[in-house]
Amino acid sequence: MTDIIIAIDGPAASGKSTTAARVARVLGYNHLNSGLLYRGITWAAMVEDWPSDETRFNRSLADLSLELERVGSGYRVLVDGVDPGVNLVSPATSARVSEVSARPEVRDRVLSLLRAEGGHGGVVCDGRDIGTVVFPTAELKIFLIASAEERGRRRLLDHGLEVSDEAVSQEAARLAARDAADSSRSASPLREAPDAVRVDTTEMDAGEVVRRIVSLARDRGATVG
Ligand code: DC
Repeated sequence: MTDIIIAIDGPAASGKSTTAARVARVLGYNHLNSGLLYRGITWAAMVEDWPSDETRFNRSLADLSLELERVGSGYRVLVDGVDPGVNLVSPATSARVSEVSARPEVRDRVLSLLRAEGGHGGVVCDGRDIGTVVFPTAELKIFLIASAEERGRRRLLDHGLEVSDEAVSQEAARLAARDAADSSRSASPLREAPDAVRVDTTEMDAGEVVRRIVSLARDRGATVG
């Protein structure tokens, strides 16, 4: 049996984490959600009110304990021993995470954790720079996209919010702003790897996306279950 590395990158709310978790379950792999690590650091910086100047920010970062704890086929993130739970995905954390994740020291910290945990294979890792920087030799790289409106609509549904035209366009604008920030930073920007398979999920349901990726994974040597 071959345990390959599957990298799934793409813009915000393109369905990466849900898809990655399901693909991992089908293949009997682990799912590493890199965004949660950036969110964990962002949450700590917010609640501890870290100074923004580089030297002092990096000192706080060096003092922070950040761990991945296996739970089933996924992980939870422990920040100084605490699971921040829903605070990781709160609007406040989402609004700050692009700025924090653009810092090179933050990226180095997350990179080493991901490589230590996933480098041996048998993993589906999702994020923005997984196929380009974290696991550039991953056997399968997927770039997942969907229209901004569809991503906005899915995000509202996920959060149990009203899905009016106005709410969708506001959410789409927030996502587009985060994508622009994530794509334009100098440290490991959101970028499609040249050897990635692009999957546009705008008109696909979740099951179809999972089946397509599992089938590509089999072509690359993964065995199911
Ligand atoms: O996937 P997500 O929305 O939970 O990610 C949150 C933020 O973390 C995203 O706006 C950019 C950053 N991120 C990153 O820079 N690199 C990754 N590999 C994953 C996430």
